[in-house]
Amino acid sequence: MNDGHWIFGYGSLVWRPDFPFAERRHAVIEGWARRFWQGSTDHRGVPGAPGRVVTLVAEPGARCTGTAYKVDDAVIEGVIETLEYREKGGYRREEIEIVLHGEPPPRVEGVVYMATPGNPNYLGSAPLDDIAAQVRVCEGPSGHNIEYVTRLAESLRLMEANDPHVFALERLVIGAS
Ligand code: SIN
Repeated sequence: MNDGHWIFGYGSLVWRPDFPFAERRHAVIEGWARRFWQGSTDHRGVPGAPGRVVTLVAEPGARCTGTAYKVDDAVIEGVIETLEYREKGGYRREEIEIVLHGEPPPRVEGVVYMATPGNPNYLGSAPLDDIAAQVRVCEGPSGHNIEYVTRLAESLRLMEANDPHVFALERLVIGAS
């Protein structure tokens, strides 16, 4: 039987999964907030000039909207291998409950990649103006850091998801008032 495996994406995995999936759904994880608190030296920055990318921070009552992908049993091993490489800059794989979009919303178990304090690239909290200043000047092998912010914000808008942290940073980064 092919039950499939769920993977929850909340950053670049929202707009660029780059792996085969059988189904894609809007989804939420509860008790977690998305924050630009992780440094990136292999995607949106370089060693010595890390970009800022998202991670998850535990916060009671918070909800983080993202995309859940259902991956077939036959390919899950290869997909996880690919993700382990892609997320190697400080993220680790965790089991999580994912609330899929639906009526009533189905709850499934899945995996998520999160970067916690103590990983070598962790940057943590900073004033949003400082985060924006860092994003404006950083670039890495996957592209400019600004693109990471604007694509994430655009994807969230398409999902009709509200994430004040992401949208405020987007406004600062593109210079909108
Ligand atoms: C994710 O998208 O779920 C993890 C963070 C990232 O790769 O941007």
